Amino acid sequence: MALLIINIQELVQVEENPVPFVAGEAMSELCTLRNSWLLTDGDRIADFGEMPLPEWLKTSADAGLTVIDARGRTVFPSFCDSHTHLVYAGSREVEYIDKIRGLSYEEIARRGGGILNSAKRLHDASEDELTEQALGRLNEIMMLGTGAVEIKSGYGLNLEDELKMLRVIRKLKDLSPLTIVPTFLGAHAVPAEYRGRQDAFVDLVVGEMVPAVAAEKLAGFIDVFCDRGFFTARETERILEAGIKHGMRAKIHANELDYSGGIQAGVKYKALSVDHLEFTGDEEINALLHSGTMPTVLPGAAFFLEMVCAPVRRMISAGLPVAMASDFNPGSSPSGNMQFILSLACIKYKMVPEEAINAVTINSAYAMGLSKDFGSIARGKVANLFITHPIPGYAFMPYAYGSNKVETVILKGKIIAGNKE
Ligand code: NIG
Ligand code: FE
Repeated sequence: MALLIINIQELVQVEENPVPFVAGEAMSELCTLRNSWLLTDGDRIADFGEMPLPEWLKTSADAGLTVIDARGRTVFPSFCDSHTHLVYAGSREVEYIDKIRGLSYEEIARRGGGILNSAKRLHDASEDELTEQALGRLNEIMMLGTGAVEIKSGYGLNLEDELKMLRVIRKLKDLSPLTIVPTFLGAHAVPAEYRGRQDAFVDLVVGEMVPAVAAEKLAGFIDVFCDRGFFTARETERILEAGIKHGMRAKIHANELDYSGGIQAGVKYKALSVDHLEFTGDEEINALLHSGTMPTVLPGAAFFLEMVCAPVRRMISAGLPVAMASDFNPGSSPSGNMQFILSLACIKYKMVPEEAINAVTINSAYAMGLSKDFGSIARGKVANLFITHPIPGYAFMPYAYGSNKVETVILKGKIIAGNKE
């Protein structure tokens, strides 16, 4: 099947010579084609150019192509959301009310709420229930423009429940048109029965969970919540070593609550990304420079927990790339809306729209190992894109926060929702 989109007001994030990510000053460059067309072939982007249509396409347009007229509309590559925990049971708005009344995320966690609360609910839910709830969330983010998403385990906190979560994630890959990347997050929190014996829990993650996850090939990435009150840098390194030994690549939570040493540990173990980064100073920035590790900021969690913002302007000035993701989870970011992340990027982190768009497309594709095939409009990449409602230009996307500007969703070359003419 082939699709031809014509009269595109502006085709955003066009790459003639694809790069794995953009860094520093290059983050403020965004290539676009005005008054253009795009052709798909199967699940790939075949070609694009400026209107009028070339002769060869005019004739083949009569021969069975599905033609979409995108007059007044903008076409974007689908968002890549490189950090979520969207497989979970139920919700935690009770803690949200505690938070409004003044308790902090860490205080809620210490009282057995937070991740431990979600672990209890996950334990009681069947695989089918978890799958159904997660599918609802995947559909929601798909309609908001996301085309590829990473999903972490981490609400199991024991071998069986971690495997249950990862098997649900594997099932979702077959059930959803989204591209899904699984990450094993055995060390998300210390379960109550291991309180005071954190070493023994790390032993369990290293000795039993990692080998079992690897044996079933359930995840290509390994994560640790390396932060104050959760796991230390030393414990993180032990867990990453075990993961790497079993063929997984590191991709970790770091420096959300303090200067945890997580960023340096991530870089040392060649993590593909280090995520959160509210506590990032010169030392951390220097460690990240030229490392291949993508600094990933999660503006939804910082907004929801009212934390300080990661020093994104300083990171970009130093020459670093920055990716952004939603962190969709029931505790610190109960939304996977990447359009809102774009707005937060501009409003709270003072990124210009071009930088924000690069952060949620090509750089977040890199942060989950997908930038060869996703994250921009380039010939040969997967045809994951969306057509907006009529909007004046791409800067309208972060500007008009709170409304859904996506009209037509196309994933792997298929129209999934919206305009089917
Ligand atoms: O990324 N920081 C650790 N984990 C999640 C929160 C998970 C939860 O509260 O359920 C996060 O913010
Ligand atoms: Fe997270």
